[in-house]
Amino acid sequence: MELEGSWFLQFLHPCFCFLALFFLIFFFLHCLVTLKPWCNCEICHSFLTSSWSKQFDNLCDWYAHLLKTSPSGTIHIHVLGNTITANPDNVEYMLKTRFDNYPKGKPFSMILGDFLGRGIFNVDGDLWKFQRKMGNLEFNKYSMISYAFEIVNCEIKSRLVPLLSSTAGKEDGVLDLQDVFRRFSFDSICRFSFGLDPMCLESSLPMSEFAVSFDLASKLSAERAMTASPLVWKIKRMLNIGSEKKLREAISTINILAQEVIRQKRKMGFTTHKDLLSRFMGTVIDETYLRDIVICFLLAGRDTIASALTSFFWLLANHPDVGSAIRLEADRVIGANQELSSFEQLRELHYLQAAVHESMRLYPPIQFDSKFCQEDDVLPDGIFVRRGTRVTYHPYAMGRIEEIWGPDCLEFKPGRWLKDGVFFPANPFKYPVFQAGPRVCLGKEIALVELKCLSLSLLRRFHIELKTPSRTPLFSPGLTASFRGGLPVLVRERETTL
Ligand code: HEM
Repeated sequence: MELEGSWFLQFLHPCFCFLALFFLIFFFLHCLVTLKPWCNCEICHSFLTSSWSKQFDNLCDWYAHLLKTSPSGTIHIHVLGNTITANPDNVEYMLKTRFDNYPKGKPFSMILGDFLGRGIFNVDGDLWKFQRKMGNLEFNKYSMISYAFEIVNCEIKSRLVPLLSSTAGKEDGVLDLQDVFRRFSFDSICRFSFGLDPMCLESSLPMSEFAVSFDLASKLSAERAMTASPLVWKIKRMLNIGSEKKLREAISTINILAQEVIRQKRKMGFTTHKDLLSRFMGTVIDETYLRDIVICFLLAGRDTIASALTSFFWLLANHPDVGSAIRLEADRVIGANQELSSFEQLRELHYLQAAVHESMRLYPPIQFDSKFCQEDDVLPDGIFVRRGTRVTYHPYAMGRIEEIWGPDCLEFKPGRWLKDGVFFPANPFKYPVFQAGPRVCLGKEIALVELKCLSLSLLRRFHIELKTPSRTPLFSPGLTASFRGGLPVLVRERETTL
C-alpha cells in the first residue's frame, strides 16, 4: 500500500505533470515530422493489425517477402518512419560511401545507453573512433586469435563434451542445445573479455548472478525498443517502476561485479594478462569507461555466437549429408581419430568454413540492423530518405533474394562458397552478416574460430537429432535471433576414439 501511495503521489507531482506534458508535445511533433501515424497503406495496415501473421511465421519472413517483391529491393514502413532495404548497392552506400550520414543515432544509443554506457557498440563519432582504433590494434594481433582458440578449446574439452557425453548415456538423452550454446558462449566471452570464468556450463548447469543479471539487462533493454513509443519506458524509468526498476537493479549488479573485477586486476597487476580488459587497462584509466567497453564486447560476442550455433545445428540436423562432408574433410586434413591441434589446421577446413557461412546466410544472428539518417539523402536505387528517419538493412531478407544468390537461394548449399574446393568469400555488402565497411564486426575472426571449433568437435563425437523436427524455426523477438522454445535434441555418442 505504502508503495502504491508514493507511486500515486509522484504521479500527481506538478513537476512530473509538466515533464509528462512536455514529453507528450515533443513526441507528438516528432511523430508528425518523421512518421505517418495515420498511414493506412497496405503494408502499414498489415503491420498495425498484425495481419501478416496469418501468412507468415515470423515478422522477418514477411519483410523478406515484401523486399523480394519490391522492384528496387526497398520498402517503407511509414508508421515506423523506417526505410528497409535488401539492395546491396544501398547497403554499400549507407555502410561505406556515406558512412558519416548513417550513424547509429540517438534513438538507438538511448535504448541501450543505461546498459552499455559509452561502449563501442553504442556510440558514434570520436568516442567510437577511439575505441575502434584500440580494438583494431588488439583484434588484428595473432596472439588475440590464438588466445580465443585456447579458451574455446578448453571450454569444449573440459565442459561441453563431458556434458553431452553424460546426456548421451541417459535413456532419454534430451538437451536444449540453444541453452547449452548460450552457456558456452557466455563462459567463453567472459574469459576472453574479463579473464573471469562464470562456469555456466558446469555439469549442474548453474546460473551465476552475473549471467542472470546480464540476461535480464539485455532482454529488458531490447524490450524498450518494442514499446509503442519511447515515452512509455522513459516515464517508467523516471518513476523507477516495473521493467525499468528491474533493469536498474540488473545493471547495478553488473556494475558492482565489473568494478570488482577491474579493482582486483589493478591490485594484482594486469600487464601480463591476455584478456581484453587487461589489454585496455594500459590505455584507459576511467573505471566506468573500462566497464562500458568490456560489457559491449560481452553483448556483441555472446548471443550472436549462440544464435549462429543454434541455427547451424538445426540446419545440420535437417541436412545430414553436410555433417558427413564436414567429418570427411576433417578426417582428411586432421586425420581420422585425431584431435584438432592448431589454429592453422582450422584454416585448412574450407568446407567447414563454407558451411558456417552458408548457415548464417540463411539465418544471420542479427537479422536486421538500423542506422539513423543525419541529412536528407537519396539512396542509389532512387529512394528518398528524410533526415532523422531510420534506415534498416536486412541480411535475413538478402539471403533469400534470387537476384543476389541465384534461383537456389532458399537451399542450404555450402558448395556455393567453394571454387575448386577453396573457400571464396562473398562481397560483404551482399552478405552483411557481420555488417561491412568501417564498422564491420571486430570479432568476426574470433567468432569463426569459435563456431568452427565447436561444431567440428560435436559433429565428430555425437549424433544429434531434433526432438521435434520442424519445417522452419520460429523466432523470439530480441536484438539477436533466438529460437522460440529452444532447440531440444536427442544426443547419442558416435563410434570414435576422439
Ligand atoms: C557469429 C557471430 C557474430 C556476428 C554475426 C556478429 C555480427 C556483428 C554485427 C552485424 C555488428 C554490427 C552491429 C551494429 O553496428 O549495430 C557487429 C559489431 C560488433 N561485433 Fe560482432 N558479431 C559476432 C560475434 C562477435 C564476437 C565474438 C565479438 C567479440 C569478441 C564481436 C564484437 C563486435 C564488436 C566490438 C562490434 C562493434 C563494432 C563497431 O561498432 O565498430 N562480435 N557484429
